[in-house]
Amino acid sequence: MKFRRLGDSDLEVSEISLGSWLTYGVGVERERAEACVSKAFDLGINFIDTANVYGRGAAESFLGEVLPRRERSSYILATKLFFPMSERDRGLSAPQIRKQIDASLQRLRTDYVDLYQCHRYDENTPLDETMSALSEVVQQGKARYIGFSEWSADQIQDALSLTEVEKFVSSQPQYSMLWRAPEEAVIPVCASNGIGQIVWSPLGQGVLTGKYQPGQDPPEGSRATSPEMGGFIKRFFEGDTLEAVQRLQPIAAGLGVSMAQLALAWVLREPNVSSAIIGASKPEQVEDNAGASGVQLDDDTVQAIDEALAGTIER
Ligand SMILES: NC(=O)c1ccc[n+]([C@@H]2O[C@H](COP(=O)([O-])OP(=O)(O)OC[C@H]3O[C@@H](n4cnc5c(N)ncnc54)[C@H](OP(=O)(O)O)[C@@H]3O)[C@@H](O)[C@H]2O)c1
Repeated sequence: MKFRRLGDSDLEVSEISLGSWLTYGVGVERERAEACVSKAFDLGINFIDTANVYGRGAAESFLGEVLPRRERSSYILATKLFFPMSERDRGLSAPQIRKQIDASLQRLRTDYVDLYQCHRYDENTPLDETMSALSEVVQQGKARYIGFSEWSADQIQDALSLTEVEKFVSSQPQYSMLWRAPEEAVIPVCASNGIGQIVWSPLGQGVLTGKYQPGQDPPEGSRATSPEMGGFIKRFFEGDTLEAVQRLQPIAAGLGVSMAQLALAWVLREPNVSSAIIGASKPEQVEDNAGASGVQLDDDTVQAIDEALAGTIER
């Protein structure tokens, strides 16, 4: 496993990291979830991403049970806040930040997280209130660094222009061969301001592994068939996306890598990407995905990928 520095922080994160949206504490049974986390550590993954809202605390609680078996300094732990935790608990106001960090730390059974992220931008709270409260969390030692997820370039610039507050070190956008929206503005503003990308759904929720065949039912046991986990994947089944993804098969085979490794190597070819956050429902998937670290794609391969996916890419 190779490691990259996360923005201007001193965190050296594994190129492949393990996320917990929909899976742990929710759609993946406990024993298999534990096996995925163990496999991740065995393969050198040192970076775990979660959020208070995943399973309304269930993902954090699961991680709070399994992670403390390990030396705290041996892994980098990130969580987030913003989405509703109850009728009244939501957003990025100062009282919410104070309340939600403590609740997350309690569930995670740790004194600090390495990275505390704003899961979205809060239009209803003045930005300086949010940034001051996040700075307080860092000063109290409850988080080492702060980041955001899915903020626009203008929102990022506004935060960077505030003085006497902690500076963001990470951005968490959706980014994959199929979803390239961050390339236009978010990556450039982050790259010139010491902010690294930790990207979500780098496999398009599994679609880029090639296992969803056009015109056929999704394979048994896959995310698309899961009542708890399948709600967000369907957009990739529209238009010609599944056909286009099959055109990547010979490219991966020619390089001697799996489809998942091709997709992950593709996001890691961008120097501003510090880590690709994968989801996994089985330890074998963690193993396959971890194998992407260190795979280099040359310009001809990147061009062949663009041609294969032409017309299906979201920018
Ligand atoms: N900030 C945000 O707003 C946000 C939003 C979403 C996610 N995230 C973060 O990003 C993480 C990853 O998101 P994601 O789960 O959508 O990522 P993903 O890696 O694109 O998709 C993961 C799913 O694909 C399937 N899969 C993974 N590896 C595979 C392999 N090698 N072969 C076949 N199938 C494979 C598995 O599902 P099945 O086996 O069930 O088919 C797995 O659960 C989340 O856990 C979370 O931490 C953040």
